Amino acid sequence: MATRSKIKLVPAGLEDRKNVYDWCFQSETTKSHSGPPYFSEKSIASYEEFCTQYYEEYYFTGSNPQKGRGYLIVVEDVSVGFVSYSAFHLKPSHAEFDIWMNSEANCGKGFGTEALVSLSDLLKKEMNVTTFIIAPAVQNKRAVRSYEKAGFQLSNKLMKDFLKAEYIYLYGEGDYGVEETALMLKCVN
Ligand SMILES: CC(C)(COP(=O)(O)OP(=O)(O)OC[C@H]1O[C@@H](n2cnc3c(N)ncnc32)[C@H](O)[C@@H]1OP(=O)(O)O)[C@@H](O)C(=O)NCCC(=O)NCCS
Repeated sequence: MATRSKIKLVPAGLEDRKNVYDWCFQSETTKSHSGPPYFSEKSIASYEEFCTQYYEEYYFTGSNPQKGRGYLIVVEDVSVGFVSYSAFHLKPSHAEFDIWMNSEANCGKGFGTEALVSLSDLLKKEMNVTTFIIAPAVQNKRAVRSYEKAGFQLSNKLMKDFLKAEYIYLYGEGDYGVEETALMLKCVN
């Protein structure tokens, strides 16, 4: 378990998977990254799609840390959001983050920024990950600002520069297309 400032990262379990889905795709924070009115081209996944295409079991069991893992962001024993890393699709020593809070009330309090700093510290220490990637929509200004505070910088590189060859066709354009995805990098030694 990693601790930094107010938040704790607690490895998520399978019993958390449905809540984590709801926070992502069925909550008041969903509109910041998927579905209408702002992201009509990025559809809202069903729970089945979430489990098969986005978050396979190992994110919630820890059975394959080389591929990825999910964590609850916990403040004073209450879950306020979720953060994960994925590495299965990337070149060695790289990891990509995804993050969302479970309500607007838990946004804007620094929890997301702290979670990203904690998770990058943890992955550097335990797996020697040195390049961290996060790729919000350009128009998600709150996310971009939070990630800058967590040590990420906007980059002119392309997602495909970091992907294993066999994943370029799937993920090479970024979630919002090349023009509308803000590729952000944090490199540590
Ligand atoms: C993105 C997210 C994880 C960031 O975590 P957070 O805890 O809210 O981030 P923080 O509170 O540390 O920082 C947010 C910053 O954005 C700023 N901000 C808020 N709205 C903004 C806007 N419209 N334009 C620019 N900056 C904005 C805040 O002022 C704050 O910066 P400051 O500390 O310099 O004042 C969280 O807001 C969230 O879950 N949002 C909804 C889901 C989402 O968008 N997920 C990301 C998908 S890539």
